[in-house]
Amino acid sequence: MKIELTINGAKKQIDADPEMPLLWVIRDLLGLVGTKYGCGEALCGGCTVHLDGNAVRSCVTPVRRAENRAITTIEGLSPTGEHPLQKAWVELGVPQCGYCQAGQLMCAASLLAAKPQPTDAVARPTSREIER
Ligand code: FES
Repeated sequence: MKIELTINGAKKQIDADPEMPLLWVIRDLLGLVGTKYGCGEALCGGCTVHLDGNAVRSCVTPVRRAENRAITTIEGLSPTGEHPLQKAWVELGVPQCGYCQAGQLMCAASLLAAKPQPTDAVARPTSREIER
């Protein structure tokens, strides 16, 4: 089935099963491999992307839910890698092995967009804030 997507500001048309996880569309059909597969069960967050600015676990999000919505992956967070979070990640040496950092950055960006001054008491998004 033909599906129209807007990803990182660009219109794309794909041919896929509407139930295909968004993660596989992003990685396998569109070649954006910054978004990672970890658990496949919405637990680890490595696959996190934004739908209309909200963090979602793309491993459990059918691509049909992304139609007519703005999808943002780590490649689209900042075209130049100059997002304040990306700069802070480098400055503070956060990456470690780096495998899940795209998901961490996308979760943090969504949190800060919703709560620019988070405290430890609200640092973890509620289940309502993490759209599944
Ligand atoms: Fe672990 Fe999606 S791969 S939450």
